[in-house]
Amino acid sequence: MSVWRKKPIAAYQAEATKSDLNRVLTRWGLTSLGIGAIIGGGIFTLTGIAAHDHAGPALALAFVIAGIGCLFASLCYAEFASVLPVEGSAYAYAYGTIGELFAWFIGWNLILEYMMGATTVAVAWSGYFNKLLHLFGINLPDYLVNDPSTHGGPAFNLPAFLITWVVTGILIKGIKEAASTNNLIVILKVGVVLFVIIAGAFYVDTANWTPFIPEVTTGSDGMPHFGVGGVLTAATIVFFAYIGFDAVSTQAGEAINPKKDVPFAIIASLIICTILYVAVSLVLTGMVKYDQLDLKAPVASAFSGAGITWAVYLITIAATAGLMSVMLVMMLGQTRIFLGMSKDGLLPKNIFGKLHPTFKTPYRSTILIGGIISLTAALTPIEKISEMCSMGTLLAFSMVCLAVLILRIKEPTLDRPYKTPAIWFVAPAGVLFNIFLMTQVRIQTWYTFIIWGVLGVLVYFLYSRRHSNLEPKK
Ligand code: ALA
Repeated sequence: MSVWRKKPIAAYQAEATKSDLNRVLTRWGLTSLGIGAIIGGGIFTLTGIAAHDHAGPALALAFVIAGIGCLFASLCYAEFASVLPVEGSAYAYAYGTIGELFAWFIGWNLILEYMMGATTVAVAWSGYFNKLLHLFGINLPDYLVNDPSTHGGPAFNLPAFLITWVVTGILIKGIKEAASTNNLIVILKVGVVLFVIIAGAFYVDTANWTPFIPEVTTGSDGMPHFGVGGVLTAATIVFFAYIGFDAVSTQAGEAINPKKDVPFAIIASLIICTILYVAVSLVLTGMVKYDQLDLKAPVASAFSGAGITWAVYLITIAATAGLMSVMLVMMLGQTRIFLGMSKDGLLPKNIFGKLHPTFKTPYRSTILIGGIISLTAALTPIEKISEMCSMGTLLAFSMVCLAVLILRIKEPTLDRPYKTPAIWFVAPAGVLFNIFLMTQVRIQTWYTFIIWGVLGVLVYFLYSRRHSNLEPKK
């Protein structure tokens, strides 16, 4: 059936060798890009909600659990990236190996990953920006820094709205100029995370770690919180913190040796961030009793609680800059995936494929994305957005694990510069583990997610299938 038609792998490989981009990225350069895309709203903001409402000191355990799911997926991503070193990430891999509908559906879920990811980070940015304003004695009214549901009345998160348009503007002009600034931001961000771990360790009171997993309680929402179930819910929340390692795969065109170095960077950036995250979690929950953690800027607030004011400035400034760089990578990734999908005919070329005459960037889709992200960020609570993002990503990850296994069976002799170790364990475990984490998400999120999925299938059959480049010309 035509929904299984595939883009020939030879076409991808030809695209990869034709890449006009400068091949300048080394394996550690790629790894640092990965780390830059990973560290953001997850560790700087969502740790507050995850520990305060769900896991308590077992936040560190939640990070380990979420990290395992990502490790399986990263090993599978790495094999794909070595077979098809092209931009477009999981969508492109699936199109070359499994078939059009499967690829379309992954692409549809990547929208949740990248667009809702950027939206989450915009809200997280607003929290830190607001903290920064406080430090300088400026206090915006509550209704201008919250969404209506969090505020409990009419409200509009203005900083989240505005930062999205700043990033949109940068992306339309092209990020070449921003690349070196971005490297500096990555160094600042990792430096601050290391600082939090080392300096914070001196303020840890081990009494704060007991009980490690708080007993189950019923929250004001009538739902159970804490206990083992709470740790799993927290794992799905902090899963968000790992998203971004796959962004390395979108840089394949600029890598000196993509077949070897992209897999290396994907795995290395994930392992490094896991170690940093677990350490930060232990320090945070050791510095402040989990039920006292701030929900909006937990890392900075832990240091203000300890009375280290200069550190609060440092962390807040680094987080504000660092979160913006994550938004850049996520929104950039989204426009590039849309560009790939429109080149294949699955999305309208005049919106998603149209390049700006001067800047040569896909400006129409960038503006569209900016519009959606800015309004969603201004009006929706962060946990709702981040859960949708995690759902989409978890599904995309499980599909990648499945796809890599199917490709091993269907094309056993294909040249694979990197092979997923113990594939018969890693790939099925990746599928099951990521789907299991999806089952831990709130039922309301599932309803929205299902509606999103149905919409995706409708768009495919009503538009994409008919306009696909692979559709026989009548
Ligand atoms: N992992 C990225 C973050 O935490 C998306 O912001």
